[in-house]
This record gives sequence, C-alpha cells and structure tokens, in this order.
Amino acid sequence: MTKNNDDDVANFTRELQEQIMAELRRTYSPAVIDHWQNPRNFRKLEAADGYAKNTGSCGDTMEMFLRVKDETVTECTFQTDGCGTTAVCGSVATELAAGKTFLEALGAVSAAEILRVLGGLPESSVHCAQLAAETLRRALADYLYRKNEPWKNSYRKK
Ligand code: FES
Repeated sequence: MTKNNDDDVANFTRELQEQIMAELRRTYSPAVIDHWQNPRNFRKLEAADGYAKNTGSCGDTMEMFLRVKDETVTECTFQTDGCGTTAVCGSVATELAAGKTFLEALGAVSAAEILRVLGGLPESSVHCAQLAAETLRRALADYLYRKNEPWKNSYRKK
C-alpha cells in the first residue's frame, strides 16, 4: 500500500468516526456518551455480599455485584451482554449506589433516577434503565437475604 493510500484510509476512517459521533450527539446527551465511552465499574466482584442476575424485557441480561460494609455499599459493579445503552445504565446505577447505605440505595436508584442523570434516553432504550434499576434492587435484596441467613452462603454459586 502506498503512502497516499494509507493517508486516504486514515482520512476516511477519521471522517467516518466524526460522522458516527455527530449522529450519536444528535440522539444522546453528553452524559450518555461519556458512560458509553468509559463505562464505570464494569467488572465482576469475587465473593460479593450481594448478587443478582436479571433478564430484561428484550432478553438481555445484567449482573450486579455488591460489597457492603457496615450497611454501606462500598463497591457496586456490573456486567451485561446487552447493548451500549444497557451498559450506560448499569454504569450509572453502580455510581448511584456506591457510598449509600443499603436503605438509601434502595430508595435512590430507580429507572427514573438513572434517566434523570443521563438527561433521558430514546423511548426504545428506557427499558435498559429499568433492567439496571431492577438488577440493583435484586442485588440489594440478595444482600439482605444473605445477611439474615448467612448459613445459606455455603451452597450459593455466587
Ligand atoms: Fe436490552 Fe437495553 S436493549 S436492555
């Protein structure tokens, strides 16, 4: 490949990336694009104090992992096989939960709050926020269940 061909390919790639970003900015807020480019807490937690795996209305799944110390969520992480907006919503949910007490997190993290932080999502992606909020709610419930019945931890898989 000649130098001119290399430059043409580089220019074409750059222009294509700029077009894609311009299209994304027409549809999504800066907050959505930020979480999409840099998803927070996208990882598994070993020996989590609370865990849930949930399937959304579209068939995508999300997992949430909690570390809780003195009734406070010190770490909240997630994984998903869903689309970009699912990861964006999971990312926001983990940030909303971290640092809150169990009860505060239960009350504060909802689909509406995730959508508020993101400045909204297209109607077709609202269910992604619902999946993230519901998965977190189940992980918090799992934490409570484990706390109240610790002997059941020994035969849990996660
Ligand atoms: Fe399935 Fe987002 S498209 S949860």
